[in-house]
Amino acid sequence: MSVVERSVAETLPTLLQARRATVGIIGLGYVGLPLAAAAARAGFSTIGFDIDPQRTERLNRGDSYIDAAPSEELARLVAERRFRATDDFAQLGDCDVVAICVPTPLTRQREPDLSYVEATVRTVALTLRPGQLVVLESTTYPGTTREVVKPLLEAGGLKSGRDFFLGFSPEREDPGNADFATRSIPKVVAGEGPAAARAVEAFYGAVVERVVPVSTLDTAEAVKITENVFRAVNIALVNELKMVFDAMGIDVWEVIDAAKTKPFGFMPFYPGPGLGGHCIPIDPFYLTWKSREFDMPTRFIELAGEINLSMPRYVIARLEAALDAQAGKALGQARVLVVGLSYKKNVADVRESPTFKLMELLEKRGAAVAFHDPHVPVIPPTREHAAFTGRGSTPLTRETILGFDAVLVSTDHDDVDYALIAGNGDGPVVVDTRNAFGRRGLAGPNIVKA
Ligand SMILES: NC(=O)c1ccc[n+]([C@@H]2O[C@H](COP(=O)([O-])OP(=O)(O)OC[C@H]3O[C@@H](n4cnc5c(N)ncnc54)[C@H](O)[C@@H]3O)[C@@H](O)[C@H]2O)c1
Repeated sequence: MSVVERSVAETLPTLLQARRATVGIIGLGYVGLPLAAAAARAGFSTIGFDIDPQRTERLNRGDSYIDAAPSEELARLVAERRFRATDDFAQLGDCDVVAICVPTPLTRQREPDLSYVEATVRTVALTLRPGQLVVLESTTYPGTTREVVKPLLEAGGLKSGRDFFLGFSPEREDPGNADFATRSIPKVVAGEGPAAARAVEAFYGAVVERVVPVSTLDTAEAVKITENVFRAVNIALVNELKMVFDAMGIDVWEVIDAAKTKPFGFMPFYPGPGLGGHCIPIDPFYLTWKSREFDMPTRFIELAGEINLSMPRYVIARLEAALDAQAGKALGQARVLVVGLSYKKNVADVRESPTFKLMELLEKRGAAVAFHDPHVPVIPPTREHAAFTGRGSTPLTRETILGFDAVLVSTDHDDVDYALIAGNGDGPVVVDTRNAFGRRGLAGPNIVKA
C-alpha cells in the first residue's frame, strides 16, 4: 500500500468512529427509510435519496409512510438537522458512505430485474470519489456486487479496495414485527478486501448492536438468499402437510402447535393461502436463475414455488365445496367477502399479496367479490393487479356480513372482529386460511379451515 492508499483506507474508519462521516441512503422504502433513521440516530449526518419527489417532500416535513420509521422520530431527526431527504443525486458526492436499498423484482419471465440497481449504481458512479464506501443492501443472487456493481463503479477509473470501498450487507427488516427493530437485528456484512471489510464493519457497527462479518461479498449475498429459501421451502412443506392432513381429517394447526413444544429440532411455520410480499415469493428465483450458469438445478426452490403457487386454487376449491355443502350455492352465483388484503398481518403492504390472486380466481368464476382490510382503506395502484386499483374496503358490520354468502379470511389482522364474522353459525360460510378463528376459540358449523 502506498502512503496515499493507506491514508484513504484509514480516513473512513476514523470519520465513522467520530461520527463525522456523512451517510447517504438510496431508496427510501421499507428497508432504506428505517436504515436512514437508524444511521441518523447513531449520530451520522444522513441524507436520504429517492427518485420519488413526493416521498422526499413528505419526509422533509417529518411525515413518514413506513411504520418502522415513525413520523415523530423522523420529525425530530429533521428538526435536529440529522436527516434530510432529496431527489438531487449530485449530493451523493458529499457522502462518505452510500447504501443502496432499491427494489430487486423479477421480470415477467421470472428472471432477476437488476435495472433499479444498475441505474442507481450508474448514478453513484457519477460522483464516486476516493475514500467512499458503497454498500449494496438489495436482496440479490451471489455475485451481483462483484460482477454487476463493481464494474459500473470502476468504469470511471477508480479501483475497489484501493480508491473506494465496496460492500454488501443484506437487510433483515420484518415489517409489523414489534420485537425487533433495525438496531437490534444482527447485520451480516462483507467488504471486498480487508480495507473495505474494516470500513463496512465500522459503519454498521456504529448503527446496529451486532455485526456478523463474513469473508466475501458473494457469501453475504448467499446468506440472505439462504434465509429466504429456508422460509419458502418450509412454508411449502406445511402447505403440503395441510392438504394431506386435511384429507385425513387432521387439523394441521393443532399438529404444529403440539410439535412446536419440542424444545429442539423443530421450528414452527404456518400454512396460508399462498406466498406474498416482496421477498419470499421472489428472492429464491434469483438463485435459481444464477445456478443455471453452473448447470446446477435448484429443485427444492422449484418444488416449493410450485406448491406455494398452487395454494390459492386449493383454497378456492375448498370454498366452492363449503358453499355447495352448507348453502347449496354455486361459486359462480356467490357473493364473497375476502378479509385481509395485505400479504401479512397487521401491515398495509399489498405487494405480491395472494389475496389478489384469490380475488381474481373468484371473479373469473363469476363470483361477486368485495374485501375488508382495516389497514387498506382503498386498493393502491399495483403493477400486476391494476384492475383492482381504487376499490374500497367494505366496513365490517353484522348487516354487511349477512349480505355475503361466504367470508374468506386470507390475512389474519389482529384488529378484525372475528366473533362478529363467526356469528352464531347462522351467517355466511366462513373459510379460514390462517386459523384466525381456531386461535380465538371460535368454532361453528359454518367455519371451515383451508
Ligand atoms: N420489505 C422488506 O421487508 C425487505 C426485507 C429485506 C430485504 N428487502 C430488499 O430490500 C430492497 C428494497 O426493498 P424495499 O421493500 O425497501 O422496497 P420499497 O419499494 O419499499 O422501496 C424502494 C424505494 O426505492 C425507490 N427507488 C426506486 N428506484 C430508485 C432509484 N433508481 N433511485 C433511488 N430510489 C429509487 C422507490 O421510490 C422506493 O421509495 C429489495 O431488494 C428487497 O428485496 C426488503
